[in-house]
Amino acid sequence: MSNSDATRPPAFEARRVSKSFAGVHALREVDLAVHPGSIHALVGENGAGKSTLIKVLTGVYRPDGGSIIYQGDEVTFSQPADAQNIGISTVYQEVNLVPKLSIARNIFLGREPRTWYGLIDMRSMNVRAKDLLDDLGIHVDVTAELETLGLGVQQMVALGRAVTIDAKVVIMDEPTSSLEQREVETLFRIARRLRDDGCALIFVSHRLDELWQLCDRVTILRDGELVHTGEMQHLSRRDLIAHMLGRDIGETSGAGDGSVQGDDDADDARAALSVRDFDVPGKLSGVSLTVRAGEVLGLGGLLGAGRSETVKAIYGALPASRGTAEVDGAKVRRNSIRAAMRAGIALLSEDRKAEGIIPDLSVRENIVLAVTKRVSQGGILSRAKTNALVDEYVRRLKIKVSSPEQKVGELSGGNQQKVLIARWLATRPKVFLLDEPTRGIDVGAKLEVRGLIDELAAEGLAVVMISSETEELVDTANRVIVLRDGAVDAELSGASLTNQGLLRSLVGTEGDA
Ligand SMILES: Nc1ncnc2c1ncn2[C@@H]1O[C@H](COP(=O)(O)OP(=O)(O)OP(=O)(O)O)[C@@H](O)[C@H]1O
Ligand SMILES: [Mg+2]
Repeated sequence: MSNSDATRPPAFEARRVSKSFAGVHALREVDLAVHPGSIHALVGENGAGKSTLIKVLTGVYRPDGGSIIYQGDEVTFSQPADAQNIGISTVYQEVNLVPKLSIARNIFLGREPRTWYGLIDMRSMNVRAKDLLDDLGIHVDVTAELETLGLGVQQMVALGRAVTIDAKVVIMDEPTSSLEQREVETLFRIARRLRDDGCALIFVSHRLDELWQLCDRVTILRDGELVHTGEMQHLSRRDLIAHMLGRDIGETSGAGDGSVQGDDDADDARAALSVRDFDVPGKLSGVSLTVRAGEVLGLGGLLGAGRSETVKAIYGALPASRGTAEVDGAKVRRNSIRAAMRAGIALLSEDRKAEGIIPDLSVRENIVLAVTKRVSQGGILSRAKTNALVDEYVRRLKIKVSSPEQKVGELSGGNQQKVLIARWLATRPKVFLLDEPTRGIDVGAKLEVRGLIDELAAEGLAVVMISSETEELVDTANRVIVLRDGAVDAELSGASLTNQGLLRSLVGTEGDA
């Protein structure tokens, strides 16, 4: 923080910026000023206008009013490349890379090193990409196609791309949403290094605790308006939340209570899901687990440990070469999503863009989509009933929409995630696999989602939940399995299931004192 110096002129400013979409005021005369050598937090509820402000600042959207000032001069960007070319580097909320190109190509896209006769110098590009990612603590084959990686690694690649540009301003819209503790620390190290080099940074995150660790100043938006700006250290967590939500919440509900604790009598409950010896070549070896009805099993592990791969394999979405899965004692055909669904397994996937959300359909259609599949297997749900269902979830999850007929693609990132959760909750499965269910969701809705998970478990569902937030796992799960290199490495339950204990098994014994 020592380098932060609000008396130096801002590096980058929004002045009275407004932006509307078809009658929705996403931004109303918002001011933001970020200074060289400073990290500025931008916070607000889902749909508050954070991403819109960033997109207006970087030339994705034209503002309806107001101005953008870069190093003292008013600027107009007609496309994001214009902003990038003068030193503004942005990691957008939705990872914005080319899935079919290699990791190295993605990092250097548009700035590839060339040989003297003008071709892309693959060798030098791959070497530089590998050095860069090694430095970020990510050890992957840089010649592999980007889409073969999980979302967390993709975020790090996007960040790697941002730091190779010699930027004056670096903007990160929820860069840590799919990162595990260790990767978050790496990212913070990089952010601080950039700050100490005199860079101005904007950082958006719903993991509130991160803000005090990293940021010097903060700007809070609510419903498209600026409600507070000032020093981070002068703001309490409680005040920050009150500004965000426009009301006080006692952050107690949903914090671990209410769930059926895995006491001894739960041993009597039979395994709702039993998975034995799953192998996925190169990704999983011999993964076994059981979940009882009414139990929430947490899956922990570092990036690339095989958490998403495990739930995908159980769901039949990732081909396994060996292994059996049973639901309520009945064997489920391997490698078939249809068989898994018919057996009552549902998967909320981590990547809402690649799998799941259909941006051109309405909120209502997106939620009902999965329900209709359930209904077609018997029973008939009337239109009135499905409508009531949709309205209930929109209300309970506080999905910010102008109406349920609004296209999902027009919602903010966090609200899209809520729609996806609502869709799967509405199917009432027997076994619910949740991959980062609260990723990118604001603090109020996070509690709501956790409360719903508790409720579902209490109704007898078996839940498997992945979360990069260790505290969330400890609070929500009855038992946690830790994966490492595609295999089960440890199991924590009862007294051993603490935040400290989980962190220790995540980093391995040598990592912690
Ligand atoms: N392309 C668009 N068309 C219509 N409405 C939009 C569009 N983009 C954003 N909006 C609306 O503008 C408002 C602000 O959205 P924005 O994405 O900026 O929120 P956010 O603060 O980034 O939220 P989150 O934390 O969920 O990412 C929301 O009401 C959203 O529905
Ligand atoms: Mg956003």
